[in-house]
Amino acid sequence: ELDFFFPVQQTIAVIKPDALGTKDEIIEKVHDAGFKIAARKETTLSREIAEEFYSDHKDKDYYNDLVEHMSSGPTMFMVLSREDAVDGWRSLIGPTDPEKAKEESPDSLRALYGGDILKNAVHGSSNVDQAKTTIQKIFGDLKFTPEGLLITDEAEMQEQE
Ligand code: TYD
Repeated sequence: ELDFFFPVQQTIAVIKPDALGTKDEIIEKVHDAGFKIAARKETTLSREIAEEFYSDHKDKDYYNDLVEHMSSGPTMFMVLSREDAVDGWRSLIGPTDPEKAKEESPDSLRALYGGDILKNAVHGSSNVDQAKTTIQKIFGDLKFTPEGLLITDEAEMQEQE
């Protein structure tokens, strides 16, 4: 029997303000898809942090609306761990536009919980580097076990041994 080793990755998942009311349903689907929530933080983004979070889009016509929306109410940030977490989460959330998601990927989170292309329920990192940068910005220096669980306090873990 051959054992293949797939390394566990981390990605950033965000439940945007428009979908925070359905966070329990979304979190159930996160677990159903095999992701572990290694860390989570519910916070209302300041305008400045929302601008920084979407700074790659600052020249787009939708940028101001996007920043307004992202700072309009509480947002849930999660660090998800799983094999192939970055691409796996992108595929679970579906296309950017919920209308397109309903046609192409009806079980996706944006098809189920998104309203329109601006209020599209959820966010996911595009690649491993972006995931690492965002984890650092939102959560600081996190360390993970090989299984993708958060190492909360090394001193405390040593005491338990
Ligand atoms: P983008 O990075 O293109 O999509 P994704 O979230 O799937 O990675 O866009 C970032 C966010 O900008 C998107 O989630 C919602 C907003 N947006 C608009 O409001 N209008 C648009 O036409 C686009 C392309 C994005």
